[in-house]
Amino acid sequence: MSAPPKTVLVADAAEAARIREAVRGVDVATLGDNRVIAAPQHAETLTRLLADPAVSGPIYDLPWPLTCERIGCWIETCEAERRAGEGVLALTLDDAGEAAGYLKFTVWPERSSAEVGGAVRADRQNSGNSAVGAARMFNWIFETFGVRLMGLTADTNNVRSIRMIDRAGFARAGERDCIRPDGSARRSIYWEMDRDAWRRRRTDART
Ligand SMILES: CC(C)(COP(=O)(O)OP(=O)(O)OC[C@H]1O[C@@H](n2cnc3c(N)ncnc32)[C@H](O)[C@@H]1OP(=O)(O)O)[C@@H](O)C(=O)NCCC(=O)NCCS
Repeated sequence: MSAPPKTVLVADAAEAARIREAVRGVDVATLGDNRVIAAPQHAETLTRLLADPAVSGPIYDLPWPLTCERIGCWIETCEAERRAGEGVLALTLDDAGEAAGYLKFTVWPERSSAEVGGAVRADRQNSGNSAVGAARMFNWIFETFGVRLMGLTADTNNVRSIRMIDRAGFARAGERDCIRPDGSARRSIYWEMDRDAWRRRRTDART
């Protein structure tokens, strides 16, 4: 279960409505080529992607066990979240139409906050370039959904993820327990970034 950031922001009704509308109407192609919102016809390819422990092993909030039926239900749940303006499940498809990665955005409009989790297929891991793609994605989240705060977590042993998030500039804010669907806890490093600090960072990097 995703949990909202430790820092509690309060959005007024207008801001929350704007965020919900942005999530409902999101065009994930603006994040990159071959991005699509997950739909029922993607259940099989997403199941194949997640069958690899190198992809799904570090992720705490997947609907284990990862059968095609359960992945199909997860896609439906995520689509209901999108219609409610509270989340999006996006896939990257390769030239053969196979899922080569996924991103799950969770949004809390009343708190003007978001979180993202995801993975890329094993043949696209160890790119040595993930921080650049991650920074572009974090920017997209702030500017597309209009949220003012992001929280992120990574398993304390997930060295690549930790390095990627640190390098993107997020500030560590202690640890937290992420709760898996079976109720067990995963100890995680926790980061936050607010939008103003993010924009200042980008401006400073350009000057
Ligand atoms: C997390 C993920 C997206 C990162 O993408 P990637 O292309 O594999 O990452 P990179 O090759 O850019 O490596 C990230 C950083 O870790 C470093 N790194 C890689 N292996 C390392 C190791 N064994 N020890 C220390 N650092 C290591 C890299 O040098 C890089 O740092 P740098 O940018 O300073 O050079 C990808 O590995 C993935 O999908 N993993 C499975 C799912 C997952 O963990 N998702 C995140 C859940 S929060």
